[in-house]
Amino acid sequence: MPDYLAEAQSLFEYTRHLRRDFHRHPELGFREVRTAGIVARELNELGLEVASGVAETGVVALLETGRPGPVVLLRFDMDALPIHEETGAEYASQTPGVMHACGHDGHTAIGLTVARLLHAHRHELAGTVKFVFQPAEEGLGGAQRMVSEGVLENPRPDVSLAAHLWNSQPVGWVGVTPGPAMSGAESFTIRLTGRGGHAAMPHTAIDPVLAAAHIITALQSVVSRNVHPLEAAVVSVTRVRSGETMNVIPSAAELMGTIRTFKPEVRARVLGRFEHLVENVAAALDCQAQVELDNMTLPVDNDPQVAARVQSVARTLLPEGELETEHRTMGSEDFAFMMQDVPGCFVFVGSANAEQGLNAPHHHPRFDFDERALPRAAGLLAAAAADFLLNP
Ligand code: NI
Repeated sequence: MPDYLAEAQSLFEYTRHLRRDFHRHPELGFREVRTAGIVARELNELGLEVASGVAETGVVALLETGRPGPVVLLRFDMDALPIHEETGAEYASQTPGVMHACGHDGHTAIGLTVARLLHAHRHELAGTVKFVFQPAEEGLGGAQRMVSEGVLENPRPDVSLAAHLWNSQPVGWVGVTPGPAMSGAESFTIRLTGRGGHAAMPHTAIDPVLAAAHIITALQSVVSRNVHPLEAAVVSVTRVRSGETMNVIPSAAELMGTIRTFKPEVRARVLGRFEHLVENVAAALDCQAQVELDNMTLPVDNDPQVAARVQSVARTLLPEGELETEHRTMGSEDFAFMMQDVPGCFVFVGSANAEQGLNAPHHHPRFDFDERALPRAAGLLAAAAADFLLNP
């Protein structure tokens, strides 16, 4: 097996140039027109078979080795976030209010680097690599949209791989976890209807603000009282809206938030308690409650065999002690929708550098990462893909 890590490092300038260009020109989900154009141009230049406009702005490309073998899907997300960048970096966003604050600029550059690496070795490989550059990962349903538009067919992948730069860990660290690694996510909206009135005569009104406050408090009991202490779950109320002024009891209130769980049985328990509490607390305070639950993503559940293979590739590539095999997070990733149908593995690649101040969390206006993580991710993904192609 060639030393894909060293080869990725020799392409560092190429990768960094692309990453910084994407970073300067971030685009929100389903609007990654410029980004997708560069992706298609680079892949076309390599002579890959490229399809653009998949799920609006997605790009899918096939690298055919010309020899029969498995199909390995590699997925990279391209979208930015509605955040105003505060890094002050020389390559900072030139679009006010839009920023690559999750590292997807890096992911896109990593994907194009992996394409170069595997293309250079195509004569030694067998099978097909399917490169999937996905739009709209940030809660907008890009992965589901790509699946519904047939990204998992013609040809059907045997294995799926993806990675995320991970700023909660330093550059030099890699996480490959068998089984559940990221939680599934629901979003919720609770609409409470009471009866408005004069704030000085509360007895003539039905106060939805009071019901909202009791519901927020009651929901804290779901994780602390209804979930096994050794299981993971999160219930967060993140938006509270009601009222206009100090002397009017409003007629309605609205709560929004998210629920995160790993296991179906924990999810069922949390959702059941959630609805029970909202309906009954609202009823006790004479309000009507309407609950809307939306399943945003499934848990990222790494196939144990695929994860074991990626771990063994990582061990041959990385110095002893750089690989962690038990890392889990309550964060979510819509790659789960591709892994649902195709056994896969989602790899975390440590990208923080505290000394250089490159350690702000994902989705923070000062998020930035140590670019030395880019070739590490590219080399590891290329080597893992090559391993599956040669030893199906
Ligand atoms: Ni992300």
